[in-house]
Amino acid sequence: MKILVTGGAGFIGSHLCEYLLGKGHEVICVDNYFTGSKKNIQHLLSNSNFKAIDHDIINPLFLEGKIDHIYNLACPASPIHYQVNKIRTIKACTVGMVNILGLAKAKKARILQASTSEVYGDPKIHPQHELYWGHVNCNGPRSCYDEGKRVAESLMMAYHWQNNIDTRIVRIFNTYGPRMAKNDGRVVSNFIVQALKGEPLTVYGKGKQTRSFCYVSDLVEGLYNVMNLEGFHDPINLGNPSEFTVIKLAKRIKKLTKSKSEIIFHPLPQDDPVKRKPDISLAKKLLCWEPKIELDEGLSHTIKHFKEML
Ligand SMILES: NC(=O)c1ccc[n+]([C@@H]2O[C@H](COP(=O)([O-])OP(=O)(O)OC[C@H]3O[C@@H](n4cnc5c(N)ncnc54)[C@H](O)[C@@H]3O)[C@@H](O)[C@H]2O)c1
Repeated sequence: MKILVTGGAGFIGSHLCEYLLGKGHEVICVDNYFTGSKKNIQHLLSNSNFKAIDHDIINPLFLEGKIDHIYNLACPASPIHYQVNKIRTIKACTVGMVNILGLAKAKKARILQASTSEVYGDPKIHPQHELYWGHVNCNGPRSCYDEGKRVAESLMMAYHWQNNIDTRIVRIFNTYGPRMAKNDGRVVSNFIVQALKGEPLTVYGKGKQTRSFCYVSDLVEGLYNVMNLEGFHDPINLGNPSEFTVIKLAKRIKKLTKSKSEIIFHPLPQDDPVKRKPDISLAKKLLCWEPKIELDEGLSHTIKHFKEML
């Protein structure tokens, strides 16, 4: 198949491109290199089945020939990056989404949208299942991303109902692994970089907030399974349901890196969710999918990556 991956030079996108090439597909990666990097796809450029295009999805995208599947991942994903230029983040999720849906329509391609657990906001139910409508602040500092991704889901459904586009929506929960950017402020990369540099590990609040961490290879397999699931258009959660407090994660990373860094506490950022854990019963039922990589194993691979990078 010929497969387009927007945001293909990013953290998840580059692993997805690699996985799709490994399955024998032709892959076109479209990226504007805002948070992604050419380094992430350098090793793929010699593959004749791989092509990289420098393009911002806020502008219409015209491609020749057929496209069978589109994975739309193009959007900055970490709070630091998506808040740098909030208007561009909203545009990527809305104007960009319309452009990519237009392409899917023109090519009669199946399209998967990388949505997020942030559509649940600071959730009032726990764990979060797909029927929960969420608790999102529509005018807070994170709303450019949270509400942008909610509109993107609405656009996917509207194009599906009105134009019969073959859509898939995945709500991705915290994912980590090699090729995360070291300056993106996400909790796993933050702690690992701080621990390796011998700097204090900064925990927000008391560190009692919980997150569930999914290793990137598990997520990529899940994305592929959703894309290849026939006839299901409603959102599906993908993530790891093992829940950790942030303080426990900090201690685990200190131990695995053998770091002597101290742990310090900063005030909680506005609208930071207190609890986050996916209910993945739908994915289990429909895809027979669940994460396989334990936290310690995933962290070890990620620590190795950051050691090399630093
Ligand atoms: N990593 C996670 O934990 C997580 C969780 C939920 C959802 N997601 C979603 O998954 C997708 C990938 O996330 P990631 O963690 O790999 O982030 P990332 O920032 O590493 O990747 C995003 C990629 O999109 C590119 N991009 C951004 N805006 C673009 C635009 N307008 N046009 C073209 N390219 C653009 C960036 O340069 C980057 O390569 C994002 O859509 C994100 O919202 C990720």
